[in-house]
Amino acid sequence: MPIAETDLGMRRIDTPDAMHALGLRLGASLRAGDLVVLTGPLGAGKTTLTRGIGEGMQVRGPVQSPTFVLARTHPSLAGGPPLVHVDAYRLGSALELDDLDIDVDGSVVIVEWGRDMVDGLVDSWWEVELDREWHGRGVDTACGTYSRATEQLDADSPRVVTITRRP
Ligand SMILES: Nc1ncnc2c1ncn2[C@@H]1O[C@H](COP(=O)(O)OP(=O)(O)OP(=O)(O)O)[C@@H](O)[C@H]1O
Ligand SMILES: [Mg+2]
Repeated sequence: MPIAETDLGMRRIDTPDAMHALGLRLGASLRAGDLVVLTGPLGAGKTTLTRGIGEGMQVRGPVQSPTFVLARTHPSLAGGPPLVHVDAYRLGSALELDDLDIDVDGSVVIVEWGRDMVDGLVDSWWEVELDREWHGRGVDTACGTYSRATEQLDADSPRVVTITRRP
């Protein structure tokens, strides 16, 4: 299995640098045919992680939040597979993902917000969930105010990353 057993499960990632480093490690182990579903709220660190993965895979950057395109292909600079970065947020269904005609077998595919969409596209995939550690402290934002405390927490605060093999 390309992603090491020791990288599976839940871990705490304290800093953006540590998130990037996790991406580097994952990127170095991902192989053509691997598909990763990435889920997490705004600012969770999805792009930071994906940037690390791209660097670990030695593909051409820059990796960005795929906001304006449905899929962006980053070719390898080292003779390896390309990284295809998909934003499934605006895709309505698994069918539309299929319509993008991605060379899944010949690429490493990262699908943001792709949960429930990749079933059928591949037999198995990796699911990476990112979250803020202090979920319960978002009470102030739920009340409609954005406190300084929240801002500081978001600036440099631990994230929880859970990696699982699916289905
Ligand atoms: N432990 C951490 N891990 C990752 N990022 C962190 C951490 N602590 C703070 N950050 C900051 O949180 C932000 C994460 O931004 P990033 O663009 O990676 O998130 P995202 O999930 O892609 O967001 P969006 O959904 O808006 O695209 C960065 O500014 C980063 O510096
Ligand atoms: Mg992003």
